[in-house]
Amino acid sequence: MEEGQWRTARRLVREARRVIALTGAGISAESGVPTFRDAGGLWRSYRPEELATPEALARDPRTVLEWYAWRRSALAACRPNAGHRALARFFLRRGEAGLVTQNVDGLHTRAALEEAGDASADPALPIELHGAVGRDRCDGCGTRFPAEPLGDALPRCGACGGLRRPDVVLFGEPLDAEVLDRARELAEQADLCLVIGTSAVVYPAAALPLATLEAGGHIVEVNVRRTTLTDAATAAVRGEAGTVLPALLD
Ligand code: APR
Repeated sequence: MEEGQWRTARRLVREARRVIALTGAGISAESGVPTFRDAGGLWRSYRPEELATPEALARDPRTVLEWYAWRRSALAACRPNAGHRALARFFLRRGEAGLVTQNVDGLHTRAALEEAGDASADPALPIELHGAVGRDRCDGCGTRFPAEPLGDALPRCGACGGLRRPDVVLFGEPLDAEVLDRARELAEQADLCLVIGTSAVVYPAAALPLATLEAGGHIVEVNVRRTTLTDAATAAVRGEAGTVLPALLD
């Protein structure tokens, strides 16, 4: 790791008044959750338009729901890693929410609850831009439910009879406007945006670090390789999130 980048990153974290952290699939890679675009990533074995789109859900709901049931079972075996836990401790210590994730694996929430113990986990709970695969949402009335195992019949909402589908943003679906507004507000108020484990190619999430930059703040990137954001970062720390974050944040 280049010494100057590391020293700059440490100084920016130490001096920051308001921090937002944007995470992507890379922070969960060390927990065994496949990323999207790395070799062997999730999309390598499927084409997004086959499964994670509203059209696919309408055309063949059972296949889409079975794929998500498979992803849920794969995730059940995954645990938050040292990177998730270091981020949770960081925001618990600061006492103010600032964690925004693109991930739907729920590992930031589990890390927050584990690190907070009996205290309030609120400051470390993530804003989930793309939802969470551990929850269902009714396609009709939007009611949310804890995910349940997929039975023979398609899961229906008890209130309106609509299809219960994973509470995730499918390709082509809009993000929840309130969620996005909150994330944008945090990005604009922050003087430091930590960008961790994301290829920063999917919008509107990828616009958040730029909002911090435009408001006069800095970007610190933690990634195992360069991304489209690397040149905009004041410090780019090359390394795995599970190793870098405890050293950078604790
Ligand atoms: N530590 C840090 N970074 C890592 C690690 C690691 N251990 N392993 C991989 N990375 C980096 C990769 O270099 C890459 O830049 O994580 C990034 C993963 O990028 P993607 O696979 O594109 O995942 P992400 O950026 O989260 O995708 C954004 O795209 O498919 C949609 O909705 C989906 O939320 C997802 C969005």
